[in-house]
Amino acid sequence: MFGRKASRYYDYFDGKEDVPFFRRLMLRLGGPVLDLGCGTGTIALDLAGAGLEVVGVDSSPYMLDIAREKRDKLPPRSRERVRFFEGDMQSFPWEKQFASALLARNSFACLLSTQEQLRCLSHVRNLLAVGGKIVLDLIPPHGEMLQGGVSVGRSVVLDGDIRLLRTVHTRCDLNSQLCRQTIIYQCYQGGVLSEQVLEEVCTSLLFPREVLLLLRQTGFAAEEIYGDTGGGQFSAASRRMIVVAGKE
Ligand SMILES: C[S@@+](CC[C@H](N)C(=O)[O-])C[C@H]1O[C@@H](n2cnc3c(N)ncnc32)[C@H](O)[C@@H]1O
Repeated sequence: MFGRKASRYYDYFDGKEDVPFFRRLMLRLGGPVLDLGCGTGTIALDLAGAGLEVVGVDSSPYMLDIAREKRDKLPPRSRERVRFFEGDMQSFPWEKQFASALLARNSFACLLSTQEQLRCLSHVRNLLAVGGKIVLDLIPPHGEMLQGGVSVGRSVVLDGDIRLLRTVHTRCDLNSQLCRQTIIYQCYQGGVLSEQVLEEVCTSLLFPREVLLLLRQTGFAAEEIYGDTGGGQFSAASRRMIVVAGKE
């Protein structure tokens, strides 16, 4: 998952609409912030630009390479506020405590078993200071997703006659509660296919009540639940479930 070539294409299809929401939220919850599954660092870098100290952790060295390249382009003061480390969100070691932890854009769903999910939440709890908050941003299972199928995304013009297309094949299995996606990136130069990259991604299908139980089981109390990044209330029709939970 999140290999070398696919990581290079990730940001082209990764909308930025949710960035201001997370900036407002994390500024309110305070830093230092632990960004787990930080990927290419889009949110971590924005938070650093807004004045927060951020530690970003990801298991993919390729996603982190891009995060570090983007960090190197920041003004020095912002650059110094953000650091990136390769590690596992279930066991990342850190001596100081964080005021808040963020698992944005379904990162937490990359943990495929209940045991891994509980281990991660317990670990985050230990890394949070008294009164610390965790933010879990998840994609709740919905009819269209469970049905599966093929979605062809918009194509992105990279440079002059270079065009990039992303196609996603989705299969969900309710027995294992897993969603498997094959993501195909196709790069065309002057209308001719010049590169094709396949990425297999597997995520957990996490149902809302299950998420709240996982949090409760690991010593967190849900305090706010949003259904979108406009701050709307969560409902069965929501395509995001963003839970802010406090360490009990
Ligand atoms: C869907 S991406 C989200 C990236 C990022 N949060 C963002 O805002 O774009 C999930 C990320 O979680 C990372 N990841 C998956 N399993 C992980 C684990 N056990 N520990 C740390 N990172 C992990 C992947 O490498 C990937 O970069």
